[in-house]
Amino acid sequence: MIEVQSLTMQYGSFVALSGISFEAREREVLGLLGPNGAGKTTAMRILTTYLYPTSGTAKISGLDIIKNADEVRRQIGYLPETAPLYPDMRVDEYLFFVGQARGLEGKRLQDRMAWVREACSLKSVWKHTVSELSKGYRQRTGLAQALIHDPKVLILDEPTSGLDPLQIIGIRKLIRELARDKTIIFSTHILQEVEAVADRIVIINEGRIVAAGTHKELEMKARAQGETRPELKLEDIFIALLLPGGQSGVTAGAEGRS
Ligand SMILES: Nc1ncnc2c1ncn2[C@@H]1O[C@H](COP(=O)(O)OP(=O)(O)OP(=O)(O)O)[C@@H](O)[C@H]1O
Ligand SMILES: [Mg+2]
Repeated sequence: MIEVQSLTMQYGSFVALSGISFEAREREVLGLLGPNGAGKTTAMRILTTYLYPTSGTAKISGLDIIKNADEVRRQIGYLPETAPLYPDMRVDEYLFFVGQARGLEGKRLQDRMAWVREACSLKSVWKHTVSELSKGYRQRTGLAQALIHDPKVLILDEPTSGLDPLQIIGIRKLIRELARDKTIIFSTHILQEVEAVADRIVIINEGRIVAAGTHKELEMKARAQGETRPELKLEDIFIALLLPGGQSGVTAGAEGRS
């Protein structure tokens, strides 16, 4: 369970997150959806304790991200926007190294390595050096490091970025399977992605939550704002909530900072 409580983040005078609150329940996949610059990565960096918020806090499995930062780090698996890889290591060496850093050893470490190799489809590059990998394989290796210690909570910043269509389908399926015993927050600006993977959606724009709920609940919110078409796709809902009045160009409101 993840509870985000009035998180605000300022970079200098620029407000990147403005008092956002939301929660992800146990074994739920929560999609954080928003245009470029919305604040998704900032929120994830705070949740994973890599950034210290200006105010507010969050709890992960009951542990406060500020007061219990070390314990929070142990509980989570994190795939950052850019996968944290060592280019000179081989894939198997890198995952062995991360597994050890996560406190795994012996048979448990070997079993987890075999599991991530299979789950993240890394067999064909297992003995390759990270610097040789294509973007998609780097992303899968990044996902493998987030999963190696079988964390209860997964935080994935654009997990399918750089993957080809078949790999995207594979990773989405994997995320759904992982949700059987994990709480997962992932970010994306791809509407089909939240539709395919998330149980609930938090729409974020310019550091504020525009709406949160299931697809059905968001549809009701869009209708309350005047959307009258009989069938509403997530794309229509997104436009209605983000740009009341239904202007085209969904990212227009999020460009630049004033
Ligand atoms: N270290 C920083 N210093 C100053 N401003 C920053 C910093 N990091 C992020 N920002 C700004 O905060 C805002 C939110 O950025 P963030 O990376 O969280 O957005 P995002 O939703 O992840 O976007 P994207 O979809 O492009 O990844 C942006 O306007 C960004 O320029
Ligand atoms: Mg981002």
